[in-house]
Formats: sequence, structure tokens, C-alpha cells
Amino acid sequence: MSKINAAITGINAYLPDHILTNDELSTMVDTNDEWIMSRTGIKERRILKGEGKGTSDMGAEAVKGLLEKTGTSADEIDLLICATVTPDMQFPATANIISDKAGIKNAFSYDLNAACSSYIYALVTASKFIETGTYKKIIVVGADKMSSIVDYSDRTTCVIFGDAGTATLLEPTTEDVGIKDSILKSDGSGRIHLHQKAGGSLKPASHETVDAKEHFIYQEGQSVFKFAVTNMADVAVEIMKKNRLEPKDVSWLVPHQANLRIVEATARRMKIKREQVMINIQRYGNTTSATIPLCMWEWENELKKGDNLILSAFGGGFTWGSIYLKWAYGSN
Ligand code: UT7
Repeated sequence: MSKINAAITGINAYLPDHILTNDELSTMVDTNDEWIMSRTGIKERRILKGEGKGTSDMGAEAVKGLLEKTGTSADEIDLLICATVTPDMQFPATANIISDKAGIKNAFSYDLNAACSSYIYALVTASKFIETGTYKKIIVVGADKMSSIVDYSDRTTCVIFGDAGTATLLEPTTEDVGIKDSILKSDGSGRIHLHQKAGGSLKPASHETVDAKEHFIYQEGQSVFKFAVTNMADVAVEIMKKNRLEPKDVSWLVPHQANLRIVEATARRMKIKREQVMINIQRYGNTTSATIPLCMWEWENELKKGDNLILSAFGGGFTWGSIYLKWAYGSN
């Protein structure tokens, strides 16, 4: 029997309408377009506005569009995994809420949180359910309403993050395409540099935690930067070597969009050209679980069947990793 591979067979995204520009941020905190562009590469980001709107709303819109675009019935979906750090609620899982909002009734669903690496962790997890023959149609949602945990009086973090929702369909194939290999890593000692101090079991919400702004992102930018630059590049090079891929064999690097300088350093280490790198950080900032699928969605029409893609991410935890996949559709 031929080996079953897990292939991405469709991708979709939902972007909130509201655009928060660097100039508008300059009226909120002591910053400016020149600093933000030179230090991060970000020009603007999307923000989900509206009372009662959460991560699930962006995820559900992305899923509904994906089902329509791929001609898939909601009833056919076996599993939906939601990669997110900004669930609608502590429980139930945002994946359950998305399934309900998108009319998915026959699937089981759960959330996966690996900070900015959530999407690649979820994609690998989903691929294993496909490769074993257990399930046939799985949706991985990568969605985050980062604006819900950003302190808009903290100039060191509020310039970076944005909101977005995405949905990726995975299906089995016996062709030589799909997810070929992955390397996932984590190091919990890195948690001191990037976390949300309160709201969990360690420090439940109280008046004090709210007053101390402990429900917002806490990030020691420079420390995270150093780890991110080294580890994201190392793991991308490691997966190339493991699969005997030369720079010329890589069609696209799809990096987590945390900072343009980290993306460029990763590409340099891989010895690949800027034209081979998907970069849209200037328009969306760091959307955490949505950055990588947002890139593949934007570049979808340029992708050809058989293209070699390297996905690479680094995030809080610390968590990081790379996926090597062969794109499964498009003309070649
Ligand atoms: O996706 C999850 C993982 N996260 C990351 O990968 C993020 C990694 N870190 C970074 O991307 C960068 O560290 C930041 C973009 C967060 C910060 O850039 P940086 O070049 O590391 O700046 P810095 O923190 O070293 O700050 C340099 C200076 C400081 O002023 P002094 O102390 O030199 O006077 C900051 O106070 O820039 C100041 N600064 C700002 N100035 C204008 C910090 N934020 C701003 C700002 N506008 N928004």
C-alpha cells in the first residue's frame, strides 16, 4: 500500500477591516513611523473592533470561506484544531466555538497553544492524524486577537502585534506532495522572557492583577530577539540539511513574521534570496498563530504543485520549529 501523505488542499484568511497605522500609534504612545519601520519592518496592522467579537469570529469567517472555496461540506470535516494564544474564553475551547459558528457538526475539536509556534505545532499534529489513515479532512485554524492582550500604553509591545484569522484544510494523498518532515522544539526556561503574568491558575484574575496590568503581554524584547534569531535560523538550516535540500531547492521560506530583522537573518543563514521569502509583516504585524498561513494564503496563486516550502517559527515558551512541505496544488 502506498504511503499516505498529509497535504494542504486549501487555505483561507479573514482580516478585520480596521487598519491601525504607525502614524495613529504615534498619537497614542511616544513612538514614530521611522523607529517602528527600522526596528520591526511593520507599517500597519489590523484590529478586530466591535463589542462581543473574539478570536472565534475571525476563525469562523476563515473556515466558512475555506469550505466554500474548496467545495467542502461542513459535515465532511473530521477534526478542527484551533492554534491560538487568545482563546475566546479559558474554556470551552475556541475550536468548539468555531465549529459551532461554522456549522461543523461531525468533528471533534480542540485548541493548541504553543505561542507563536502554535500553527506549525498544530499542522504537524493534524498531519499525523491524516498519515495514520485515522481522518480524511482536518481544518487547522490559526487565529489570534492579539489586541485583546496588548497594552496600548506600552510602546515596546503595542507596535508589534495585530489580529487575523486563518483556516487550512489538510487531506490525504498518495502523491509525492504534502508535509515531508518537521522538527519541533521547546524550552520552558525561556518563559521568563515572554508571558502573560496573570489570568491562569498560578495567578488568577483579581483587582490587583488588573491594576498591575498583568493581563497584558510581558516581553523582554532584546532577550527574545536573540533567542529568536539564533533558533529560527538554526532549525531552518537543520531541516534543510536533514532533507539534503540546497538553497536552490527551496522554492519559498515561509517565516513567522515577528520582526523583519529576524526574517532576514533566517534567510541569510539558509543562503536563500529575498525573492524566495514570503514577507507581509509590513501590512499585518505579528498576528501570532496566523502569520505563516496568512503568507501562504497571500502567495497561493504564485505557488506551484511540487514547490518546496520551509515553514519556520519561534515564539514564547520558548517554542520553535520548522516544517518541510511540498505544495500540493497549482499549475506546474
Ligand atoms: O513572535 C514572538 C517572539 N517575539 C519576537 O520575536 C520579538 C523579538 N524582539 C523584537 O522584535 C525587538 O526586540 C523589539 C521590536 C521588541 C524591540 O526592538 P529593539 O531593537 O530590541 O529595541 P530595544 O528594546 O533594545 O529598545 C531600544 C530603544 C530603547 O530606548 P533606550 O533605552 O535606548 O533609550 C527603547 O525604550 O528603543 C526604545 N523603544 C522605542 N522607541 C520608539 C522601544 N520601543 C519603542 C517604540 N518607539 N515603539
